[in-house]
Amino acid sequence: MAIRRIRFIGDDILKKKCKPVTKMTPATKELIEDLFDTMYEAKGVGLAAPQVGILRRICVVDVMDDDPIVLINPEVLETSGEQTDDEGCLSVPGKVAEVTRPNYVKVSSLDMDMNPVIYEGEGLRARAMLHEMDHLDGILYGERASEPYRDLEEEEEWEE
Ligand code: NI
Repeated sequence: MAIRRIRFIGDDILKKKCKPVTKMTPATKELIEDLFDTMYEAKGVGLAAPQVGILRRICVVDVMDDDPIVLINPEVLETSGEQTDDEGCLSVPGKVAEVTRPNYVKVSSLDMDMNPVIYEGEGLRARAMLHEMDHLDGILYGERASEPYRDLEEEEEWEE
């Protein structure tokens, strides 16, 4: 278990497009474990590889629904509906902004054995999946927000 250093807004690596994963190596497995450890330690609900300085198409999501997932080379297959809510990001500490996203998403991914797998999400899970996948293309949620970043109120603290 290792906690990696989270990169913050202003760091150019967060604007870069990540490269696909071509094979599952011990280093990739370790990165995935570290993404989960780092996310849980920071009390986030998602974390993407570029947020710890690795430009690979890997992210993890756990919205406390007892179904944590790792997305490897994920692609959106389908979306539907709409939701609007405050969003946060471990790379933009202490800030939130309102973002409208689809309420449902279906995503193709690879599993830990590099076999194809489909994941679905609704509500917060869909929001977190789409937010993390944006990181793989160098997009921070502020670019999708309807307003500038606001300071997070202590009592409503949650970040992804
Ligand atoms: Ni984020």
